[in-house]
Amino acid sequence: MTSATLEIHLTDDDLTAGLRSDVRRGLTAEQKWLPPKWFYDARGSELFEQITQLPEYYPTRTERALLEQVVGEIAKIAQAEVLVELGAGSAAKTRLLLEALTAEGPLKTYVPQDVSVAALSASANEVATEFPGLSVHGVVSDFTATLDNLPRGGRRMIAFLGGTIGNLVPAERAQFLADVHDVLEPGEQLLLGAGLVIDPAVLVPAYDDAAGVTAEFNRNVLHVLNARLGANFVPEKFAHVAVWDAQNEWIEMRLEATEAMSVTIADLDLAVDFAAGEQLRTEISAKFRRDGLENELAAAGFATERRWTDPQERFALWLAERR
Ligand code: AVJ
Repeated sequence: MTSATLEIHLTDDDLTAGLRSDVRRGLTAEQKWLPPKWFYDARGSELFEQITQLPEYYPTRTERALLEQVVGEIAKIAQAEVLVELGAGSAAKTRLLLEALTAEGPLKTYVPQDVSVAALSASANEVATEFPGLSVHGVVSDFTATLDNLPRGGRRMIAFLGGTIGNLVPAERAQFLADVHDVLEPGEQLLLGAGLVIDPAVLVPAYDDAAGVTAEFNRNVLHVLNARLGANFVPEKFAHVAVWDAQNEWIEMRLEATEAMSVTIADLDLAVDFAAGEQLRTEISAKFRRDGLENELAAAGFATERRWTDPQERFALWLAERR
């Protein structure tokens, strides 16, 4: 069996330290909030997989169908020797890219990056077995903290798919794009998948499905705080809320306290009071317009080479070159 190598730049202790400081900051703020990255323990990742199968949740299948259609073109243009995939997780769309980049170009190395060692080692080893000619080198890190530990050398393409860029607020997005620019050499590429601004009547149900899976996913962050920080949230006492913020053009997910309550976070020595009806923001999922994202790319030092969308213009892929 072929095996992948793994480089660990983020330990469990680092993760716990990050969780502690995020929770303290977010839950003591005037307007309570938590960053979305803490949804994804094993159960949260499983719930997200279920979300991707829901009839209302169009992004994953739309991006996949689009990628299937245009991946050959992407590979021809990119001529990548190294594919770096940020937030690779289960590497579900990766195979399409790897096949095309191998068939149409000189791909030699695949570098999946993720915060989860468990998710990464499993999928990296699977890919290594499926593509015996490819060298697979996983990197465990937090891309919002630094990209400096991504390997250099070879003609690289960084793929950031799934629309995860929408989880970043504009300032974080600018920082992230600047970091990607800094880690790339002139001529190397960024492949970016992002959701587009569409009718809220389609958008909102994607984040508030009839079966209630997204509600469970949303409440899972409270289970994570209970398990990892000794908190005593009663997740059933929080209602799932998804709203379209037309000003900022993002979906906001919140958890609304159904009654007044006090929660203790033992490991932080912290007591947090919720008023009845108070909302805790758990995620933003920004949607984009062509000009908006291309301006942001340009500001970060990227030239848009190509852009592709699905027929309904719900999702787009951008191939951008680092100038
Ligand atoms: C994995 C961040 C792309 O924002 O659409 C799905 C997460 N949140 N349903 C998204 C999510 C609610 C998803 N991303």
